[in-house]
Amino acid sequence: MDVSEAIRKRRSIRKFKSDPIPEEKIRLLLESARLAPSGTNTQPWRFIVVGDDVTKKKLQEAAHNQKHIRRAPVIIVCCADLRAFKGFPERVDELIESGALPERTREVFIPYLKKGMNSVTKEGLIIAAAANVSIAVEHIVLQAVEIGLGTCWVRWYEDNKIKEILGIPDHVEVIALLPVGIPDEDPGPRPRLSLDKIVYSDKYGEKYI
Ligand SMILES: Cc1cc2nc3c(=O)[nH]c(=O)nc-3n(C[C@H](O)[C@H](O)[C@H](O)COP(=O)(O)O)c2cc1C
Repeated sequence: MDVSEAIRKRRSIRKFKSDPIPEEKIRLLLESARLAPSGTNTQPWRFIVVGDDVTKKKLQEAAHNQKHIRRAPVIIVCCADLRAFKGFPERVDELIESGALPERTREVFIPYLKKGMNSVTKEGLIIAAAANVSIAVEHIVLQAVEIGLGTCWVRWYEDNKIKEILGIPDHVEVIALLPVGIPDEDPGPRPRLSLDKIVYSDKYGEKYI
């Protein structure tokens, strides 16, 4: 299956078979997440793989009792470690060593980023973290399609409750719950806005031909 087919076949799956998911398949999903791009290669994503039924029940309750959470054999809880952003000088060094960035990045970029880090609000950090982690989550989602698994992004939950259930520290934000399992439904495509409603030409609001 190529990427284009995975994109077109993917659906949010809310009914799962009870079959367990082999460990190597979960590892493949996590490995796909690990390879995602991130700003300054900060890699702020952290994942908690939940298979225990008691914990799944608690997560379902914290997510307004959405049934598909407990129905899935595995839930990957996708988080962002806000402290990861403090590690950007090391990440930049690694990028320079790997040849991805030129040597002068160290003098030009690091002081600029450090200055930015001193003034960034927690809200700003969360926005950056969410952007980065979301890419990794979608890598999991599309990889899952290729190996016959279904997923559903879940963001409707009480954040503080999820953190308490899973012992997530303050500097880590929950970005999504991702139930994973073999689909027990085969829904058709859900509605989407047409391109003329979402794409502009040259300037916001200018019709795209
Ligand atoms: C950021 C995000 C949050 C979502 N939160 C939920 C959720 O809490 N519960 C749920 O059942 N679906 C959730 N969804 C799934 C959407 O409802 C779904 O993507 C949309 O209806 C389009 O359907 P499709 O994914 O099958 O194409 C979420 C999707 C995204 C991307």
